[in-house]
This record gives sequence, structure tokens and C-alpha cells, in this order.
Amino acid sequence: MIKNFKIFAAIFFLIFSVAFPNFVNAKEQINVDVADEQTEISVAEIEKYFKTLPQKNKYKSSQRPLMIQGAMNVEIENLVKSLKNPVAYRFSNYFYVAGTYKNYPVVIARTEQGMANAAASTVIGIEKFNPVAVINQGTAGGHVADLYLNDIVIGSKSIDSAAYKTEFSPAGAGVDFTAQEMRGVYAYDVTTNFFQPHKEFFADSKLLKVAKKAADSHSEFAVAVGTISSSNIWNSNVDYINFLNKKYGSLCEEMENNAAASICQSASIPFIGIRVISNNVTNGSPWDESTAATCQNFVLLVAENYIADVLKK
Ligand code: 5AD
Repeated sequence: MIKNFKIFAAIFFLIFSVAFPNFVNAKEQINVDVADEQTEISVAEIEKYFKTLPQKNKYKSSQRPLMIQGAMNVEIENLVKSLKNPVAYRFSNYFYVAGTYKNYPVVIARTEQGMANAAASTVIGIEKFNPVAVINQGTAGGHVADLYLNDIVIGSKSIDSAAYKTEFSPAGAGVDFTAQEMRGVYAYDVTTNFFQPHKEFFADSKLLKVAKKAADSHSEFAVAVGTISSSNIWNSNVDYINFLNKKYGSLCEEMENNAAASICQSASIPFIGIRVISNNVTNGSPWDESTAATCQNFVLLVAENYIADVLKK
């Protein structure tokens, strides 16, 4: 009787799992839902924290502030919490928190993700806060196999990896992704008074110097200096990533840096990009958002050096 029941139950389960595969995989799906819910809770918590801050719509400071940018909550949380006397501002739905760090005015900007948002947030940030310099920072995908999660890339320069023209090829010829020539993006040139194409933007030399100094006292993770590649593209194709590394020297990719750099170039404001490796398909490292904290800690060290060595001198 029991044996018959077992056979019956096994047959029933087999038929049931074929007919309702989603129900049998429900455990997996529930796990995914729980993970999403946790992210939502943390977003809601930081948004709630922002609402506790005094809100203003006009910034006044006798000293020009240092502006530090990050696209997502997780990329700015620690920076915001390190400010003394934080005040929140919202302009055209871009969010800023101004306060002081090491007794110097600092503005943290949440640019939101992507090139257009980064550019818009930078222009508005420049107009409303008149920053003395801009640091764009946050997560990035590695383009070389010897950069691991939490390693830092100091951008001595950046490119827009989507600002290229392809060579002509006729219909049906297929696609050779290497047949491209960089055009660059347009930024204002004070010597000619025109917007001119820039294939790359270079970090400000003083910001680069203090970032390298921070790297010397930062022993926890590796720090590389080189090219940051920006676009609205998330590349997971290792052949293409290897091509970007070979052709442009790209060490990592993200979606804001070059857009902010071009606006700062147009406004003659010193700029540097600093990124943390948060994922790397060239060595099989999956996305880890906790790396964003490593970047912010390093950037606070850079800010401290810049304030002490450049701004307060
Ligand atoms: N490719 C593109 N953007 C990335 N980011 C992190 N890793 C990558 C990657 N591999 C950053 C972008 C954007 C968000 C998706 O995270 O800057 O803000």
C-alpha cells in the first residue's frame, strides 16, 4: 500500500512539475524577490534620511566648494554621512547635499545614471554651487584581468567609447567592431572660443597629484592610474573589452565620467574621475555593490589631501 502510494506520488510530482514548472521553481523565484525587496528597503531608508536633512534652494558660501559626484545612492551614502551640517537641495530633480568636510565646504551630487544625467547634474551643480573642482566617482567594470573587486582606478584621462565613426561596409558584409575611428565629443575651448571635438579629457594635474598621494597611503587594495572609458553601454563582450583596452588603453568602464569631464572642460573647472572595480568579466568577478564604499573612502582621502595641499594653501 505504502509502496503504491510512493509510486503514485512520484508520478503525480512528475506530471505536476511538467505542467507547472514555475511552481516547482518557486523557491528560486522567491529568493530573487527577497533580494529585490532588500535593495528597495535600503533605497527607501536613504531617501527617508535625506528628508530629515534641512532643505534649502539657494546655496551661499564664502569659499567655493569641492563637488563630489556619484550616480546612485549606494555611491554617495558614505560621502553624505561624512559631511558636517548637511543641507539638501533639489534642482530639476537632481539631488545635492552641501556641508563641510575637514572644515571646508563640500557638495555631494547624485547625478543619476548615464551620460545625459551626468552632464545635466554637472551643469546645474556648477551654476548653483560654483565648485572650485569636481570629482566624479563610483563603480565600474574592469577592462583588464589584474584589476579585482575593490581595486581603484584613478582616471588620468577619460574617453567616450561610443563617440566613434564606423568604416563603411556594404549590406550583408557583417560587422567588424574594430573598424572604427574615434571622433570624440564637443567641449568649449577658451583659446578659440568654439566648441571643439575632444577625443579624451585629462585629469587636472593637482587633483591627479593628490590622488596619487592618497594611493600611496592606501594599502588595502590596488590603485591603478590610467584611462576610464564612458558610454551608456554596459559591455560584457570580452573580445570588445580587450579591443577597448588595446586601442584606447581603457582600464575600466562606466556611464558618467566623460560626460562630467566635458562639462568641466567647457567651464574651465578642474576635474578628475576615480572609480572602483565593482565587476569584471575579464576575470569572472560578478557585480558587488559593496565596492562603492571602498571608492568613497578613497575619495575622502583624496578630498582631504586636496583641501590641505591645494585649497587651504
Ligand atoms: N559597465 C557600465 N557601467 C557600469 N557601472 C558599473 N559597472 C559598469 C559596467 N560594467 C556603473 C555606471 C552606472 C551604473 C550601471 O553603474 O557608471 O552608473
